[in-house]
Formats: sequence, C-alpha cells, structure tokens
Amino acid sequence: MPEKGEVEKVLRQLRSEAEICRRCGLYRTRTNVVFGVGPASARIMLVGEGPGFTEDKTKIPFSGAAGKYLNNLLHEAGLRREDLYVTNVVLCRPPQNRDPLPDEIETCRHFLGGHISIIKPKLVVALGRIAARTLLGRYVGISREHGNLLDCTYAGAKFKLFLTYHPAAALYGAEAKQKLQADFKKLGQILRQTGREPQDR
Ligand code: URA
Repeated sequence: MPEKGEVEKVLRQLRSEAEICRRCGLYRTRTNVVFGVGPASARIMLVGEGPGFTEDKTKIPFSGAAGKYLNNLLHEAGLRREDLYVTNVVLCRPPQNRDPLPDEIETCRHFLGGHISIIKPKLVVALGRIAARTLLGRYVGISREHGNLLDCTYAGAKFKLFLTYHPAAALYGAEAKQKLQADFKKLGQILRQTGREPQDR
C-alpha cells in the first residue's frame, strides 16, 4: 500500500494533467476543470455524473443545489463529507448540463480510473445511472437496481459499489427523494454492519 504522501503526490500530478486537458470537446465550453476533492486516504468515494453550473465556477464537485442535498443524505448515513473523496465521471461541465456523451466518458476514463487506482477506495457510491453504467461497464436501470451493493472492478481496482439515484433527482420529485433517503439509510446500516474502515493508512 503506497504511503499517504505518495498518493497525494500522484493525485497532484493527475490534477496538473487534468487542468490542461483538451482530450475531448468539453474543454471548449468549460470555465474550469473540476478535479476530485477529499482526503487521499479516503476509504469511501462518491462518483457523480459531471460538474454543473456552480461546480464549473467553484471547481468543487457537488457544491451547487444537488451538493447541498447530498450533504443531508450523507448525514442520514452517518457520514461526514470531509472523510470522503468526491469526483465525477467527467471532469468538465457538459453544455446546458446535458448527459456526458459516450466518447467524453471514455476519454475521461483516464482520470476516473486514475482517481480510483490511486486512492483504492473500499466502497464507491455511484450517484445516478451514468456513474453506475460507467463503473460497471453495462446498462443499469437505476430504478430497478438502486440500493444494491455489488462487487466491482474498475481500472484494476476491486471495491464494493453501492448504487443510488443522482441527488439532483430529489430536487425534481418527491418519489425519488424518498428513494434516495431510504438508500442512504441503508448505506448507513451497511457501514455499521461491516464496520467502518479507518481513514488513515
Ligand atoms: N452533479 C454531478 O453529477 N456532479 C457534480 O459535481 C454536481 C452536480
């Protein structure tokens, strides 16, 4: 297991690479690259879809309305955001917040895979169908599969993957809000049953 300082160093190198990335067309419309945020020693990683309007300005994943709601959900699961690593499938905002295109997701795999293979989380939470499909490499019907805990291998790293809705779904409907709350409650129960992983290596 690499030292924490070594993990931080490799993450800094990956960030420098991301900040000048022009591998897909999203560089033309982004204001900023939104690199992942959190401790290099995090055992739990959250993966969203891609930055929105606020994140594109602040450079911080989930810093807008969906992020505020995500913080409530984390509280529900007994988690503190500062203990988690948070990133997205694509690091640049898709115009008008459209879904990232398959070629954009494929190109940004270098960075998502980089984050996962460096940090080596024990548990990843896929926030929404785009993250779930990207990590599992198959079609995921999130309304059928949300709340499931699966084995996953991505970028050569093995971890448990918990599937749930994207937190923005709660801003549009009461039904999705209830399902998200139930999923995060279940996530908290799973974490309590399995015992929390220490944050430090
Ligand atoms: N939605 C996402 O998927 N990611 C963010 O960082 C913000 C909103």
